Amino acid sequence: MSFADVQRLFPVTTRALSNDHLEIGGRDVTTMAREYGTPLYVFDEDTLRAQCRDFVKGFGAHYPKVKVLFAAKAYVNPALAKIVQEEGLGMDIVSGGELAVARVAAFPPERLYFHGNNKQARELDDALAYGVGRIVLDNIEELERLEKIAAERKVKANVMVRITPGIDPHTHAHTTTGTVDSKFGFPMLTGQAEEGVKRALASPHLNVVGIHFHLGSPIFELEPYALGVAVVMDFAAKMVAHGLNLEEFSPGGGFAINYLRSQHAPGPEQYAEVIGNALKQACQKHRIQLPTLVLEPGRAIVGPAGVAVYTVGSIKRIPGVRTYAAVDGGMGDNIRPVLYDAKYEAVIANRLSAKEEETITIAGKYCESGDVLVKDANLPRLQQGDVVVMPSAGAYAPSMASVYNLNPRPAVVLVKGGKSRIIRRRETYEDLMRNDVI
Ligand SMILES: Cc1ncc(COP(=O)(O)O)c(C=O)c1O
Repeated sequence: MSFADVQRLFPVTTRALSNDHLEIGGRDVTTMAREYGTPLYVFDEDTLRAQCRDFVKGFGAHYPKVKVLFAAKAYVNPALAKIVQEEGLGMDIVSGGELAVARVAAFPPERLYFHGNNKQARELDDALAYGVGRIVLDNIEELERLEKIAAERKVKANVMVRITPGIDPHTHAHTTTGTVDSKFGFPMLTGQAEEGVKRALASPHLNVVGIHFHLGSPIFELEPYALGVAVVMDFAAKMVAHGLNLEEFSPGGGFAINYLRSQHAPGPEQYAEVIGNALKQACQKHRIQLPTLVLEPGRAIVGPAGVAVYTVGSIKRIPGVRTYAAVDGGMGDNIRPVLYDAKYEAVIANRLSAKEEETITIAGKYCESGDVLVKDANLPRLQQGDVVVMPSAGAYAPSMASVYNLNPRPAVVLVKGGKSRIIRRRETYEDLMRNDVI
């Protein structure tokens, strides 16, 4: 493998320097590893902004009324939220914590959509108090919970109803959400979706503005979206006949990115063409006005913008079996390989063009045998102190980070135009014990 084979997986500003080092955002990654320590997450501002713009432009080219929301669960902090906000996106939030970040980033409340399958009364109350644009209802108990809180506040909450259409998007079972057997949403096939929408329509405290579904993630195929839009629009049209004013329609997120050199995920424009056409056709078929199309990309916004940076420590060669190179991070900062069997590429940032000589498994430092980041990678012969960088690591890694084994969570750095700045400090041992009481 040469670096050129995997360069497209890295942020757009990535290049090989003349000293054979990796550069992102105009900064030498090896130098940053030394300055900030590792494990380290580096986000490239140009890539983050480019991903936001590609979604807005791509979908805008294929459909007249579009809202793009960044699904914050993929990874958010106030600095990143501010950039997304500046790019004009809205935000899909799923907790009071994500709402708090939105507030700190001065996110306009009307651009926030509140998701989740068990939003707590306090979270719903906070959301109404802040004036969150839409609450996406997930089940009947939640509908009743919100209705009560809206009544107490004497407001009419704008809601979408999330339904599960019974479509398998062919992704990992843990990230499949649109099938009937899912904890999310009102199932369509059992009649509960229809009941839910009718119940919401009848409520004096709820204003139903649309229908939502989300199939799973990451979805590398386009057909599940086309099918999903058609099936859910059949349902939505039926609800229109029952008095629903379908102002908005959302096929959720789930847009894939490339983790491996062998992968070729569709770009925003390809997803847009299929989804936009499917929605236009469905509206024509049912003779209803075009609703606003609401998209919720998370992974595809923040994933390609971030890389994980580690330093190699112990190297264990078991003759005839396997070679393990242990880095200073692992499942605590990136649980995806363990949780979803996720795969990554890796490069050596301080010796980019070194020849591949070995099959190496990059293991973490956590006390679990399963704590492996990259299994059987073809890499140069690794040495202690080498800086290993994994691309496409911006989504669902730092956001799911834990302090397992009481390893502090990594620092996060933002790079742009040759400058880098910390947007999240590395946790300290004091941070780890902040809430403990002796
Ligand atoms: C309702 C909803 N919208 C959007 C997303 C974001 O998915 P992705 O990050 O794959 O785009 C998810 C992810 O689980 C989701 O559940």
